[in-house]
Amino acid sequence: MFAKAIPVLGLILASALIGSVDAFWRMNCAVIQTGRVDPIVNPGKLAAHAHTIIGASNIGVNATHDSLLNSACTSCEITADKSAYWTPLLYYEHANGSFEEVPHAGSVVYYLGRGANRANIQPFPKGFMMLSGNSALRSYDNTTMTYSNSQYKGRPIADRVSFNCLDVAPMAEQPWMFNTSCRNGMRAQIHFQSCWNGVDLYKSDNSHVAYMSAIDDGICPPTHPVQLVHLFIETLYSVSSIVTSDGGKFVFSQGDPTGYGFHGDFQNGWDMDVQTVAVQNWV
Ligand SMILES: *[C@@H]1O[C@H](CO)[C@@H](O)[C@H](O)[C@H]1NC(C)=O
Ligand SMILES: *[C@@H]1O[C@H](CO)[C@@H](O)[C@H](O)[C@H]1NC(C)=O
Ligand SMILES: *[C@@H]1O[C@H](CO)[C@@H](O)[C@H](O)[C@H]1NC(C)=O
Ligand SMILES: *[C@@H]1O[C@H](CO)[C@@H](O)[C@H](O)[C@H]1NC(C)=O
Repeated sequence: MFAKAIPVLGLILASALIGSVDAFWRMNCAVIQTGRVDPIVNPGKLAAHAHTIIGASNIGVNATHDSLLNSACTSCEITADKSAYWTPLLYYEHANGSFEEVPHAGSVVYYLGRGANRANIQPFPKGFMMLSGNSALRSYDNTTMTYSNSQYKGRPIADRVSFNCLDVAPMAEQPWMFNTSCRNGMRAQIHFQSCWNGVDLYKSDNSHVAYMSAIDDGICPPTHPVQLVHLFIETLYSVSSIVTSDGGKFVFSQGDPTGYGFHGDFQNGWDMDVQTVAVQNWV
């Protein structure tokens, strides 16, 4: 699926992607902070559950675009990107009730040029934030669909979340934590909304953004006409490093043993000049 996404170490190399129809760039990111921090959902307060944060070092409960931009460093490969990205922590709940943190084995953040309108992709605006996924879900919602019309088919928005069990043989991806016996790790993946209403930098119900009709491609709804970069994050959990012989279970920090409630957050902290050049000069 991402065969055309080429790993790059910096934006200078990103210009080498000119001509590609699919990729902007992707970057590897390590954990910068772990804790009950979520300046999007719970600004100024303790978050409801723990997250693993990658990206800018200034991330905190009161983070803003300016404070992120002033970070000393980022745990992602592109230094002009002082954004923060976060996903829930994964635990193993032992049979005796104690919780063990599953090691985070790194994330990959993809910035992709997708959508029928990809020639008009706009950079994420200053102060922009969004959340994809729903931490309360515990089953597959096959009825809430993306926008569609006669030409472009819709899709259950639940497909924004997928899991990949990395073992010797490839397994089909599923929208839930279908197999946790993965010798090379379990990868949780999330697609973000790529359509913006052009007005609000954030709304607590995320109604300022919408998914494309096919989530990773297609069209934007007329209510959300601004085409953004397609953001996609893979997070690898080192499930094989946990001794599971006592018969416990894997559970995400939002109390979710299914994975349907997996979610991801993005808080823009880009140097806007760099992001604008990178996004608008790729075609
Ligand atoms: C965040 O902002 C709130 C409200 O201004 C303040 O009370 C709190 O001390 C701040 N927290 C941190 C960690 O800066
Ligand atoms: C529960 O079991 C795990 C795995 O055997 C062990 O590491 C942990 O110390 C135990 N916790 C308690 C409170 O007994
Ligand atoms: C959604 O799933 C339910 C339960 O499996 C099923 O009965 C229903 O037909 C499905 N609806 C659609 C639109 O696929
Ligand atoms: C999970 O995948 C492993 C490795 O392929 C396989 O041996 C195991 O049977 C699978 N478990 C389940 C519950 O499907």
